[in-house]
Amino acid sequence: MQAVGDLRARLAAGRGGLLARLTLVKALLASNDLQGALEEAREAAALNPGVAVAAMALGEVLLRLGALPTAIAELQRALRLDPGLERARFLTGRAWLDAGEAQKALEVFESLESAPQIDDLIARAHAIQHAPRSDAGYVRHLFDQFSADYDSRMIGQLAYAAPQILRDLADLIIPGRENLSILDLGCGTGLAGMVFKARAARLDGIDLSPTMVLKARARGIYDSLIVGDIETSLTGTYDLVVAADTLVYLGDLAALFRTVHAHLSPDGYFLFTTEAKDADGFELGPKRRWRHSEAYLREEAAMAGFSVAGLVVASPRTEANQPVPGLAVALSR
Ligand SMILES: C[S@@+](CC[C@H](N)C(=O)[O-])C[C@H]1O[C@@H](n2cnc3c(N)ncnc32)[C@H](O)[C@@H]1O
Repeated sequence: MQAVGDLRARLAAGRGGLLARLTLVKALLASNDLQGALEEAREAAALNPGVAVAAMALGEVLLRLGALPTAIAELQRALRLDPGLERARFLTGRAWLDAGEAQKALEVFESLESAPQIDDLIARAHAIQHAPRSDAGYVRHLFDQFSADYDSRMIGQLAYAAPQILRDLADLIIPGRENLSILDLGCGTGLAGMVFKARAARLDGIDLSPTMVLKARARGIYDSLIVGDIETSLTGTYDLVVAADTLVYLGDLAALFRTVHAHLSPDGYFLFTTEAKDADGFELGPKRRWRHSEAYLREEAAMAGFSVAGLVVASPRTEANQPVPGLAVALSR
């Protein structure tokens, strides 16, 4: 703390240069004052636009704050200024790892001569590659970047129909039931919430991406919204749980089906869309979305204690102007 005070005093008196400010950034990071570190690192980078270590310091602070797109951009800027800056490469690898980009992280880690805890980091990257679901960091990073123009791209360019498909399925399976308590899994910006709102006495949402949740909150239609993982963070009991185009980020659905079953009222329903796979099992498609076969969905649903109340072929969206094969499913508890 003394060091922070001394360094601040020196800089305020105009007696400290870049080195003093970067030392201050390190001291603030060490004392977990991330906002203070951000201010100083921004100042260092602004005052020294052509200096690689200043860009690296800003990248490191942004990485600690979890602001991955800007952290990666700043670290890459540091490497353009000084391609030999080993620590900037290491931090870039850490950022790719936090963003769930295991292959990119491994490429960086394997190019380093040595780095702290490198074996653990490489093991984490391999775990992401072999997990039977999309990494939470990957999903968060993807949708934090996508959130700004999500609605216009999904509706305008990709003919996105999953929310309406689920609404039509609900009208078929539980016609006339109003005043439902509804949970929107992977609520995103709230497109499914919008079409279910009219039937809800209570509407809650959960999503991994904080910026998608901010957009959903701005609609003012949800009673409660949380940032969390649908496999591990469900609370409460609901008449209806919906997941519009969310299960494409989970391969193995056993854990999700079990937790949804546990959070449904006795006459509750779980409605979701998937991208379809032929034959059996599930697989990761080339666009890094998971596809599920009808046989797999029926098998896992039965194992979790569900009955299949409805299962229809329905394309949730297009890809390169072609409808993506999909299924819409209603499970009853
Ligand atoms: C394609 S968007 C669909 C959003 C919304 N349901 C809609 O219809 O527009 C998928 C959403 O699921 C969220 N998501 C994916 N996996 C998740 C998980 N394991 N836990 C929470 N949210 C998840 C993503 O962050 C993203 O917002």
